[in-house]
Amino acid sequence: MVNVLICGIGGKMGGVLLELMHGDGNAKAVCGVDIHAPENIGIPVYKSFGAVKEKVDVIIDFSSPAALSDELKWAVKNGVAVVIGSTGYSEEQLKLIDDTSKSIAIFKTANFSLGVNLLMKLVKTSAEVLGDKFDIEIIEKHHNQKVDAPSGTALMLAQSANANNKEYLYGRDKTAGKRGKEIGIHAVRGGTIVGEHEVMFAGEDEIITLSHSARSKKVFAAGAIKAAIFVAGKPAGKYDMQDII
Ligand SMILES: NC(=O)c1ccc[n+]([C@@H]2O[C@H](COP(=O)([O-])OP(=O)(O)OC[C@H]3O[C@@H](n4cnc5c(N)ncnc54)[C@H](O)[C@@H]3O)[C@@H](O)[C@H]2O)c1
Repeated sequence: MVNVLICGIGGKMGGVLLELMHGDGNAKAVCGVDIHAPENIGIPVYKSFGAVKEKVDVIIDFSSPAALSDELKWAVKNGVAVVIGSTGYSEEQLKLIDDTSKSIAIFKTANFSLGVNLLMKLVKTSAEVLGDKFDIEIIEKHHNQKVDAPSGTALMLAQSANANNKEYLYGRDKTAGKRGKEIGIHAVRGGTIVGEHEVMFAGEDEIITLSHSARSKKVFAAGAIKAAIFVAGKPAGKYDMQDII
């Protein structure tokens, strides 16, 4: 059994993770960390990592980039692996994650769904086959509480499509002018949309559209639990969905 600490346990993803782990024979939520600690959830919740007393094998993080620094320091000190699901990290924070993966195992992905990871492969192949004659536009849609934009998944899809190191254009307003060779990335926010991603290849007289629609947050939580079971006890290094697909 893998003992899991959920960072961001009071949030939407934290709640779904707890629910799924109740019925899981391989992973058990033993405690949580959250700056807004929920009450009466049956396991201890701390406001900071320094207060954690339980024996933990893996942290699953669906919180905010603000938690990263203390979380990684605590994980290194205690030899604990980390699964990072949060998005919106700065370049500096991404470097901290890379550097820390020399000391502990870190599994990181902006999207835990099998479907999106397949979509990334399809986008890569399509971009290679279609080449520069097709304009690429990425449209992502999420609920009205999402803090970062564009989504981490949209950025992963752009990277998959970007064999030729094209620039990214975020949104398109009147200053954008005529289209060049960029990849356009557009964020839409509203209601309770779980996560929609569409990659459009627009050529002369034909359009190819590849898309993924998440219908519930369970798909991400289930993937993160799989990742936690996979990464527990693994040697230091960086891991992602390609390692478990
Ligand atoms: N990788 C994926 O597949 C995937 C899927 C869904 C969401 N996400 C990402 O996960 C993150 C959380 O999403 P959510 O919808 O659950 O958000 P949410 O706002 O519902 O929950 C975030 C929780 O983190 C807590 N928190 C904020 N700052 C903290 C800190 N410094 N230390 C400890 N706890 C802190 C908040 O109090 C809150 O309870 C976002 O970055 C989102 O983009 C990733």
